[in-house]
Parts: sequence; structure tokens; C-alpha cells
Amino acid sequence: MLENSENNSLNHVAIIMDGNGRWAQSRSHSRIWGHIRGVKVVSDIVEEADNCGIRALTLYAFSTENWSRPFIEVKTLFTLLKKFLIKEKERILKNRIRFRIIGDITSLPSSTLKLVKELEGITKDFEGLKLTFAFSYGSRAEIVNSVNKYISQNPGAPLSEEKLGKLLFNADSGDVDLLIRTGGDFRVSNFLLWQLAYAELFFTPTQWPEFSREEFKKIFINVSSRQRRFGGVKESSSLLENTSIAKRNKAVLEESLRF
Ligand code: FPP
Repeated sequence: MLENSENNSLNHVAIIMDGNGRWAQSRSHSRIWGHIRGVKVVSDIVEEADNCGIRALTLYAFSTENWSRPFIEVKTLFTLLKKFLIKEKERILKNRIRFRIIGDITSLPSSTLKLVKELEGITKDFEGLKLTFAFSYGSRAEIVNSVNKYISQNPGAPLSEEKLGKLLFNADSGDVDLLIRTGGDFRVSNFLLWQLAYAELFFTPTQWPEFSREEFKKIFINVSSRQRRFGGVKESSSLLENTSIAKRNKAVLEESLRF
């Protein structure tokens, strides 16, 4: 196992798994074939993330915008999700992975929802990797949903960053430390917008079906050695660590500018 704690603690890694369609089409196959190949890579990367000592892995598998794709492609992605849940259940349990889906789960067919609920229930207290699939997910919808939840539970009370952070769908995975996007584009595509505030970003031209454990590990090691400063000037392990310095500076500024 790679000792994550010796590096700059990339606790939460999120991935936009892009490029399935183009990868397949460039090989004269249908886009669907690209998604089928893509699922195999999902299993490899989950295992590798666990090996690297990462605490949380969030994978963007289907966005709210993806609903506008041809029906056959939509159906394939939902079928692949269902098959993944059935096929990987044993491995998830064996490795004590805490599994969760974030997004509009009301859009899942009832048989899939049943499998999701069952797996979420069994694994909810597991202490291993927190594996989250973002499915029928959009970050703006997540933020609006969380704000509305707060308003209905605390009418008239002001909302804070801390409170909102705790209401997000996978709050216990925390802020994202590293976002990887495969497929060569440089966008965040409505994915974890709030949680990405201080994330390190890594864009690779590799299309998702060709993404490998080796490339994942290389990126992880590369980004682990980046110096993260969270707005300060010195290396810092978290945003929180800088808060007391910021507070002290605010407190003495008024006094020191009296001239
Ligand atoms: C983006 O590639 C990828 C998706 C919309 C789906 C990602 C899904 C998988 C990797 C497999 C599904 C896994 C599970 C477990 C459900 P794209 O189709 O937009 O590719 P393109 O940019 O080349 O068109």
C-alpha cells in the first residue's frame, strides 16, 4: 500500500470518466461499446485507489445532462450500473468499501434502486474506501437541494459555508483534493462544484477505456508532491489550518493601518 499520509494527503479523489464514446467510434464501434469497456476500468481504478490509501473516491458515471443522449445509450448506462452492482457486490463487501450513489436516485428503475439501497445499507458503517457514484447527478441541483433542505429545517436562520458543506450529498467524503478528468477536455461539467473549491486538477488526454491503474498511480504520485497552499504562502495541509492565521491577520489589520 502507498503511504498516502506521507504525501500531502490526497484523501478525496474525484474522476470525470470521459472519452468512452470517442474511443469506441475511433475504432469503428458504437459509443455503447466504449461504455462497456469503460466499466472494466472502473473496477481497476477502485482497487488501485484503495491500494493508494485514498479515503474517498467519487466517480461521475451519469450527469443530469446525459439524459439528453439517445435512449439506447441512456439505457446502456443504467444497465451497466445494475450489472456493476450485482457483479461487484462481493468484492465491495470483502474490501469493506462504503458504497453510495449521489444524484437524483428517484430516476433509477425500482430494481436498481433496490440493489443500491441494499448495498448502501450493508456498507454504511464500513471503514474502508468511501466509493461514491455520481449518477443522474448535477452539482448545481445538489447545492439547491441542500439549501432548500436547510431553509425548510431552519426557517429564517442564516446559512454558513460549514452548514452547507454538511448538507451536501456525500458530505462525509469532504472536499475533493484531486480531480482527474480523462478524455482531453478541460472542463468540470457541473461536477462537485462546491467540493472542488481547493482541489488540484489533472487533465489527461487518455480516453477512459484506456485509462490504467499505472496512469492513475502516476497521477496520484505526481500530484501528491505538489505544494498546496490553500491561499497562503507556505505549504499547508488544509484550508482549516490557514484559518487561525487569517483570523489573526484580520484582527491586527485595523490597528496596524492607523496612520
Ligand atoms: C463520458 O464519456 C462518460 C459517460 C457519460 C459515462 C461514464 C460511464 C462509464 C465509465 C461506465 C459506466 C460505469 C458504471 C459503473 C455505470 P462520453 O460518452 O461522453 O465520451 P465522449 O466524450 O467521447 O463522447
